[in-house]
Amino acid sequence: MVSYRVTPVEHIAGEVTVPGDKSVSHRAVMFGAIASGTTRIDGFLEGEDCLATMRAVRELGARVDRPAPREVVVQGVGLRGLKAAASPLDMGNAGTAMRLFMGLLAAQSFDSVLVGDESLMRRPMERAAKPLREMGARIETLDGKPPVRISGGAPLHGIRYAMPVASAQVKSAVLLAGLYAEGETTVVEPAVTRDHTERMLQSFGCDVRARDGVVTVRPPAQLRAASISVPGDFSSAAFFIVAACIGAREPFTIRGVGVNPTRTGLLEMLALMGADLRLLNHRTCGAEPVADIEIRPARLRGVRVPERLVPLAIDEFPAFFIAAACAEGETLVTGAAELRVKESDRIAAMARGLDAVGVRNEVLPDGLRIEGGPIGGGVIDSRGDHRIAMAFAIAGLRATAPLEILDVANVSTSFPGFAQLAGSVGLRIEECA
Ligand code: S3P
Repeated sequence: MVSYRVTPVEHIAGEVTVPGDKSVSHRAVMFGAIASGTTRIDGFLEGEDCLATMRAVRELGARVDRPAPREVVVQGVGLRGLKAAASPLDMGNAGTAMRLFMGLLAAQSFDSVLVGDESLMRRPMERAAKPLREMGARIETLDGKPPVRISGGAPLHGIRYAMPVASAQVKSAVLLAGLYAEGETTVVEPAVTRDHTERMLQSFGCDVRARDGVVTVRPPAQLRAASISVPGDFSSAAFFIVAACIGAREPFTIRGVGVNPTRTGLLEMLALMGADLRLLNHRTCGAEPVADIEIRPARLRGVRVPERLVPLAIDEFPAFFIAAACAEGETLVTGAAELRVKESDRIAAMARGLDAVGVRNEVLPDGLRIEGGPIGGGVIDSRGDHRIAMAFAIAGLRATAPLEILDVANVSTSFPGFAQLAGSVGLRIEECA
C-alpha cells in the first residue's frame, strides 16, 4: 500500500500550475466521442479517472489518439455511432464517469454493464437511475449500487425532473439521455451545481438553456466536434490555496485555474475566515473562465459556513477542514451530508484524521464542527480517498511532528504528480511503497 510520509516544514513559497480540470476532461472526451468530426482537447487531465473515461469511449468504438502530453484527439462517431463494448466498462474510482455514462448508454441501442473499483462499487447509483427510468430507460443497480446494467433499445422521452439532491452528475446524466429523447428534457436543481455540461454542450452546438437553476436541452440532429482547452482544476488548486493560507509568508500564486463560479465557493468560505485572496489576469479558456489566484498572508478565524456555499465547494471540504483546524476558534459546517457519499465518507474520514493529529472536532449528521488548534504528528488513514490524502499532506505546514498518511495511491485519479509539485514549493511529502 502506498503511503505519504510528511515532514513538517515552516512555509511554502513560489507559484504553481495545477493539472487540467477533471470534470471538464471527462466531458470533453465523452462529448467528442458522440460528436460528428474530430474533437481536439488540450490541457487534458491524465489522471486515472479521466483515463478510465478515455478507455471506455475506445471500447465503445471511438478512436482516441494522444499525440502529445495532455493532448487528446477524438474521432467522433456521431450521436448514433457507438457500438456495444465487448466486456463490462470499468470506471475505476470515477463516480463522474459512471453517472454520465449511465445517461449516455441508457439511450443506446445496445446493452452495457458498468463496474468500478471497491470504492465506486459502494456508491449510490439510484440517484441517476431513477430519473433515467422515468425517461423510459431500462437500467438496474444492485441494491442501489454498481454493477449498473443497462438494456439498450428503450425509446426515451423528455421529462421535467426536480432533483432531490444537488448533483451535477445526476443533472448531466439526465441531460445526456435528453440528447436522444423525444421532446425537451428539463432538470430543476435544488441548488446551483457545476455547469460544465451545459457550457460544453453549447460549444458542441447543442441547444441547452439554463436559468435560475432550470436547465433544458433539446435533442440535436448532431453534435458538432469542437476544440476544447481544459483549464487548471480548481479542486486541485484548492490544496495549494489552503496551503498558502496556512503556510505562506509572501504572496503565493496559482496560475491558469478554472474559476467557474459554480466551483469557487471555497474562495468565499476562506474570505469569510479572513483570508486575503485575489483573482488576477481574468481570461477565458473556451467556455470556461480562468484566472490566476494570489494568496497573501492573513490570519484565519473560525466561521459558520453558509449552507448555500456547500454545493459550490463540494469537493473542497477536505482541504477546507484543514484550514479550519488552523483557524482561531470554531468552524461549523452543516448541510453537507453529500460528503458522506463521495470517494469515502468524507465527514467520517476527516474527523478520524483530525482525531489522529489531536484536533478537536464533533461529527454531525450533515457536517463537522472543528476547534482550531495545534496539529500534532500521527497516522492518518485516507481510506483510499485522494482528497483526504492531499488535505492531510498540506497539514504538514502546521504539524509539530511527522505525519504518515496511508493508502494514497488514488491521488493519481485526480492529481498525478501532486507530491512532486508540492515539493517544488517547499512541502516535504515522501511517497513510500
Ligand atoms: C462532479 C460533480 C460532483 C463532484 C465530482 C465531480 C462532476 O459530484 O463531487 O467530483 O464532474 O459532475 P455530485 O454530482 O455527486 O455532487
